[in-house]
Amino acid sequence: MSEIFKGMKPSRRNFLKGAAASGAALVGGTNAAKAAGDPAILEKQPWAQFLGAGVDEAPYGVPSKFEAHVRRQNVPWLTADPVSSINFTPLHELDGIITPNGLCFERHHAGVAEVDPSAYRLMINGLVDRPLVFTMQDLMRFPRENHVYFLECAANTGMEWAGAQLNGCQFTHGMIHNVMYTGIPLRLILQEAGVKTAGKWLLPEGADASGMTRSIPMEKAMDDCLVAFKMNGEALRPEQGYPVRLVVPGWEGNMWVKWLRRIEVGDQPWHHREETSKYTDLLANGQARRFTWEMDAKSVITSPSPQMPITHGPGPVVMTGVAWSGRGTIPRVDVTIDGGMNWHEARISGPSLNKSMHRFYYEFDWDGKPLLLQSRAHDSTGYVQPTKEQLRSVRGENSIYHNNGIQTWAVDAEGVAENVEIS
Ligand code: MTE
Ligand code: CO
Repeated sequence: MSEIFKGMKPSRRNFLKGAAASGAALVGGTNAAKAAGDPAILEKQPWAQFLGAGVDEAPYGVPSKFEAHVRRQNVPWLTADPVSSINFTPLHELDGIITPNGLCFERHHAGVAEVDPSAYRLMINGLVDRPLVFTMQDLMRFPRENHVYFLECAANTGMEWAGAQLNGCQFTHGMIHNVMYTGIPLRLILQEAGVKTAGKWLLPEGADASGMTRSIPMEKAMDDCLVAFKMNGEALRPEQGYPVRLVVPGWEGNMWVKWLRRIEVGDQPWHHREETSKYTDLLANGQARRFTWEMDAKSVITSPSPQMPITHGPGPVVMTGVAWSGRGTIPRVDVTIDGGMNWHEARISGPSLNKSMHRFYYEFDWDGKPLLLQSRAHDSTGYVQPTKEQLRSVRGENSIYHNNGIQTWAVDAEGVAENVEIS
């Protein structure tokens, strides 16, 4: 590389050094001044010396090999068997609000069903005037809509009820993804079948070996549920329920039945396994909360965080994170860097959509002293994200599901971040 550079005139070299130095003045405390004499700017790099790959070498594009660390990960002790387990979205590596399809966390009760779209059928039965069976082609003839929604598993942050445990927002908060769905309003499909007056509940059922079912009230189905077949513009991924999944905006992920094969209309809830022994919250007094469908407002700082330490020393830090609510939008996120002594309003950037993730930023000048980072979401109903203590005082400590308490990261003088709780 330096061989090639030798052919250039020294004046050019001086110009580049000068440019790097003046850059330093513009960006203040960053490392830009060190770029003077940097071979990465002064020398011709390998990628400029040879022709690159041609257009047909990656008919379906994949990320740069330098991004190979950005991936879904599981927690080994939570994964007794991969076909009935979870992995987590790498929230700490993402920005903006959309989760790329290949990074959406997965939760399967019986592995990924491989459904052939030509043999795919969706059946509507029960309290309807006309029981119907649709093929993919039939579904493609209904009007469709596009909406961005988050899907959060009710068990997200569930390992943190008793105290700080998993070291990284991928593991504490990564059972969430935020995707643009293309789908048919469920209302239109139900109208086609004609719901009888007594029909007040739905039982969607999955085509996978778990045959997962949940009871959904008719009002929700008629309001904003979608029978979705595209995510972020392309076909659903097999892991996300290809070819068709139910989208239940703002409600717990378990209800978003994947590989949707049947919807039964009934006059009352079924109380199947996933809404009795699971997805109910045992309170301190021995009673369990029933039907906790809506996901409460929640937020987390994704950087700095345990997997995203501050590596550049004191100076400007871009703090960022995500916030969401199952009841609407997020008009405001507060952040603190001193464990709640002082709160600041973060800057929300990007679309503020109903029941979608929001992206926030807070830029500050780090003095190199230890930090206690927290974020607190406010949603459009006026609800404010509680502290973990507030949550435990109401809900006790038996719960797994619906933990939306404020998360704390402690950052030490080296910039290393750790999951902690403060009281
Ligand atoms: N649907 C079927 N048919 N089978 C399943 O195992 N898991 C549920 C739900 N729908 C599941 C399912 C759970 S618990 C969650 S949190 C979401 O799907 C996860 O969706 P994802 O894999 O797209 O992240
Ligand atoms: Co779940």
